[in-house]
Amino acid sequence: MESAARVERAHSGDLAWLVSVDRHVSRDWVQSCVESEAYLVARRGDDAAGFLRHSMFWRSIPFMDLVFVDVRLRGKGVGSRLFSAWEDAARAAGAAMLMTSSMADEAEPQAWHRRNGFQPAGTLDLSPYQATPEIFFVKPL
Ligand SMILES: CC(C)(COP(=O)(O)OP(=O)(O)OC[C@H]1O[C@@H](n2cnc3c(N)ncnc32)[C@H](O)[C@@H]1OP(=O)(O)O)[C@@H](O)C(=O)NCCC(=O)NCCS
Repeated sequence: MESAARVERAHSGDLAWLVSVDRHVSRDWVQSCVESEAYLVARRGDDAAGFLRHSMFWRSIPFMDLVFVDVRLRGKGVGSRLFSAWEDAARAAGAAMLMTSSMADEAEPQAWHRRNGFQPAGTLDLSPYQATPEIFFVKPL
């Protein structure tokens, strides 16, 4: 039977892997997020299987920036474990709501967010950054 992934905060040993897979941000920002404990990493054995990078909207509301699972390991519950660990930590810290967002033309991430209890809360045109509008999602806790 395959072992379940365990989720923990990223450490400096994850930096090279995170830089290789978190392609939306600079290496410096990846390093800064490791140092500020803004990454959760899922591991199977010693190997990283996925990550969740988070921040705080208004420095108040937990915001899931990006969740990623190694393509070979998708559909095995790794993403769900990452999301649950983040949600549990936010709840324990007293958060009243979670937020995330997705490009309007990306049906699969949206379906996954809805499956995790998020509801769409509005769409923004961020055209200086991307041609496609961005849908924001919220999940009251
Ligand atoms: C989205 C993603 C993180 C999901 O991770 P995963 O480890 O494959 O997901 P899980 O195995 O935990 O799936 C849990 C459940 O969600 C379902 N699911 C998985 N991907 C889904 C998707 N794209 N849409 C809807 N449901 C999905 C699974 O079937 C499973 O359902 P079940 O428990 O009823 O069998 C992963 O597919 C990924 O890295 N995608 C590319 C990056 C991305 O799009 N990120 C999201 C936007 S930030």
